[in-house]
Amino acid sequence: MELITGLVTILSFYILIIIILHFSFPEPHYDWSKIDLENMNFPSEFSWGVATASHQIEGNNTNNWSKFENDRDIENSGLACDHWNRWEEDHGLLVELGVTSYRFSIEWSRIQPEKNEWNEDAIQVYSEMVDSLLQKGIEPMITLHHFSHPVWFEKLGGFYERENIDYFRKYCERIFPYFADRVSKWCTINEPEVFSIMGYYMGMFPPGKRSVRKAIRVMKNVMIGHGEVYNCLKSLKPDSHIGLAKNVTIFDPYRRWNLIHWITCYALNYIWNGAIISGLKKGRMFGSSVKAAKGSLDFIGLNYYTHVLTTPFLPQTTEVDLPARKNQQITEFGYPMYAEGMARAIKILQHLQLPIEITENGVADKDDNLRPNHLKRHLWVLSKAIERGSEIRSYFHWSLMDNFEWAEGYSLRFGLHHVDYETQIRTLRTSGMDYREIINKFRE
Ligand code: FCB
Repeated sequence: MELITGLVTILSFYILIIIILHFSFPEPHYDWSKIDLENMNFPSEFSWGVATASHQIEGNNTNNWSKFENDRDIENSGLACDHWNRWEEDHGLLVELGVTSYRFSIEWSRIQPEKNEWNEDAIQVYSEMVDSLLQKGIEPMITLHHFSHPVWFEKLGGFYERENIDYFRKYCERIFPYFADRVSKWCTINEPEVFSIMGYYMGMFPPGKRSVRKAIRVMKNVMIGHGEVYNCLKSLKPDSHIGLAKNVTIFDPYRRWNLIHWITCYALNYIWNGAIISGLKKGRMFGSSVKAAKGSLDFIGLNYYTHVLTTPFLPQTTEVDLPARKNQQITEFGYPMYAEGMARAIKILQHLQLPIEITENGVADKDDNLRPNHLKRHLWVLSKAIERGSEIRSYFHWSLMDNFEWAEGYSLRFGLHHVDYETQIRTLRTSGMDYREIINKFRE
């Protein structure tokens, strides 16, 4: 009898916890058939952009990534979009789209190919890019580290070694003055959590390590690096706007009645989102100090793609189809389209009480079946968030054109323009035309 009473008590307690969790952390799904996607509103000063990253488009880079591609015998980035030689043509694509801003990254390995070697010519090319954008009325946003860095830096241990942060800071300090007179928006680091977890836990990015402990150590160092660069650049030009691009992935328990799924969800959310927000807010993450990171932002960049349904069986590679809800459309990356999550990601970042820039959002979709709708749903969600008072200043679609998608190589196509890699011909997709129309409607 006592045993039964005990079991009933435990069960009631369990059910109570699940009910509390269920109602405290809902997983909204909209009935999109009832939503009028034309019903959007954006302020006239809203900034409309597209984003790219150097290693994914430039071609013929020699960096940690090109080395990894060779060492691992994975698809080679090779000539990519040959953007290094075709950037003027690509800036023409920006004009055709009608964007008002463009996020791109500067390739550290081009500028400092060896520890003691600086390539002024490469700086000059990036400087010409900036001039060309400004002449076209397009505001540049520069990312200083978007997953790639020089081989010499990687050989020294990259961000795994705390003392190497100095190299990154010195590099940023050296190049910043070349641009700061004309560029006011900067992202120090792209996706510190993706960089550390993919490179040091999943082993799918260089240097291909597989250790939770190492991934956490790198994440902390990257955040310290971000903070030091922020403080350094702000001292050079206090009125610049410096932030980082945070990938916010939403985590939801796969089975909402399963406490283990909730616990996994909580843990993953802390590792992926919570720790970094805590680093930026309190200067502490994973129980240790990352003091330089505290308060080191003028805006927070949001890269939003999807939500992950958690079970204790964590994926060890991105080459698996993640669990999804019934009726959810699955993108070619294997994860579901979940525009509702963008509103949740914005809420998470609002803890930082800073303006938000949507630094990336897009979908792998080679035939452009999903992208037009994907784009409109996310913009609709954004527009509603702005209506509710969120301070969101921009939207940068990922990406201007198809490009080298890291571990997935050229198999995934994220472009508003299709790229024929044989001929390097870029062709605007339907989604690109849709984006152009939307921009046109709301641009000043
Ligand atoms: C993001 C990366 C970006 C691109 C998109 C699809 O995580 O920042 O370079 O690969 O994913």
